[in-house]
Amino acid sequence: MATDNNRFQAIIAHCKEYGFIFQSSEIYDGLSAVYDYGQWGSELKKNIRDYWWKSMTQMHENIVGIDAAIFMHPTTWKASGHVDNFSDPMIDNKDSKKRYRVDHLIEAKADELEKEGKKAEGDALLAEMDKLLAANDYEGLKKLIEDTKIKCSVSGTGNWTDVRQFNLMFSTQLGSVSEEASEIYLRPETAQGIFVNFLNVQKTGRMKIPFGIAQTGKAFRNEIVARQFIFRMREFEQMEMQFFIRPGSQKEWYEYWKEERMKWHLSLGIPKEKFRFHDHVKLAHYADAACDIEYEFPIGFKELEGIHSRTDFDLKNHQLYSKKKMQYFDPEINQNYIPYVVETSVGLDRTFMMIMSEAYTEEDLSTAEKQDSRVVLKLPPKLAPIKLAVLPLLKKDGLPEVAREIMNTCKSSFKCFYEEKDAIGRRYRRMDAIGTPFCVTIDHQTKEDGTVTIRHRDSMQQERISASQVREFVEKHLI
Ligand code: GAP
Repeated sequence: MATDNNRFQAIIAHCKEYGFIFQSSEIYDGLSAVYDYGQWGSELKKNIRDYWWKSMTQMHENIVGIDAAIFMHPTTWKASGHVDNFSDPMIDNKDSKKRYRVDHLIEAKADELEKEGKKAEGDALLAEMDKLLAANDYEGLKKLIEDTKIKCSVSGTGNWTDVRQFNLMFSTQLGSVSEEASEIYLRPETAQGIFVNFLNVQKTGRMKIPFGIAQTGKAFRNEIVARQFIFRMREFEQMEMQFFIRPGSQKEWYEYWKEERMKWHLSLGIPKEKFRFHDHVKLAHYADAACDIEYEFPIGFKELEGIHSRTDFDLKNHQLYSKKKMQYFDPEINQNYIPYVVETSVGLDRTFMMIMSEAYTEEDLSTAEKQDSRVVLKLPPKLAPIKLAVLPLLKKDGLPEVAREIMNTCKSSFKCFYEEKDAIGRRYRRMDAIGTPFCVTIDHQTKEDGTVTIRHRDSMQQERISASQVREFVEKHLI
């Protein structure tokens, strides 16, 4: 696994310096694995979310969206299996008291072996870990850690506790008086909001199987080993879609959604070789088949999205616990059944991190005369936080007035940014750094012939077009 830690650190620093992502509650020294999106980060995140939403609910006639609450009846999580099964095997180092997720500890060792040129050894270690995880063999996992001489990064010792399971759900109290309050959970996945609304949507929307329900929203997990920036957070956002199908057709739909989701990622202009499928060996408690779409982050190939064939596990259990029928009458075959489900579940924050990793580019622009460089975010124009920067060359001679007119014509169609301070070159560089695909410059020639300069972010080429055509020009390029 080729990793590039410097590049990753540079992206993190860039995200902070240019208002994309800040550590949560930074003035109080931050909160581990919780992040805030800044002025440009929230725009980019919203654009990714909107692009996903549109591709699901607008481009598929048989998929509708919902927005369910984060708080749900506590029985939801009993029925879904999360109370009993949503846990990870953990191990503590007795000397440092630091807790690790067993799979992360072993994966880090495999990475280390690969870096030392012992890839085959690392792969064998991972294969053995997968086998033990699939068999829930905790003694075997502890032995594997000891035999491989894995040490705690804090204490440097291999003095480990037994491997134990820890539930990842956050709980809180609902109700004002403590005796009456009941324990509820912050949802660990958005999917259950879809399952419990299956009949509401099917009936009120007169939906016919096969059909899907999509949702985006916050999910919460008490990740023990939270690290790698926004890759693994305690509060994050998911974009999920449950596709309800006839029992028996799950293999076909599973393959369909694998392909469809891969096409979506490729539509962002990311090369094919940056993605791969990874089939799950140890299936989640609800799945009969599952895989991840992995992307090659600067920290190596990692999970970006999960595609899961969830059978009728969730609906069947909600029927059992709620005692409400979760059946669908299929007029084509004249039968009642509980539908099967194929789920696509992608992390919005991980998609953000993928897009940033692809876009972040350091360019050396030095010539024989002078040293020069720039950092440019080559974001897909449709996702860029700002589409057009409107820049009068000078703060006088009537140029700001013309620039304001262009701004007023364009700002209802797409996000624009007006700036008149500093030399034009510096303003261009600031726009490059936040990924603005076009800058329009208003100069003295504009006053003579009504033309302006449009500068392309990636090529830095400039062309003159009529000021009256700026809006149309930008709209044409927002693909
Ligand atoms: N409903 C199925 C489900 O939640 P998952 O594989 O646990 O499946 C789906 O999560 C996606 O959510 C992952 O592929 C990842 O992109 C994102 N995700 C999961 N845990 C995350 C975390 N702690 N921080 C950021 N993203 C996370």
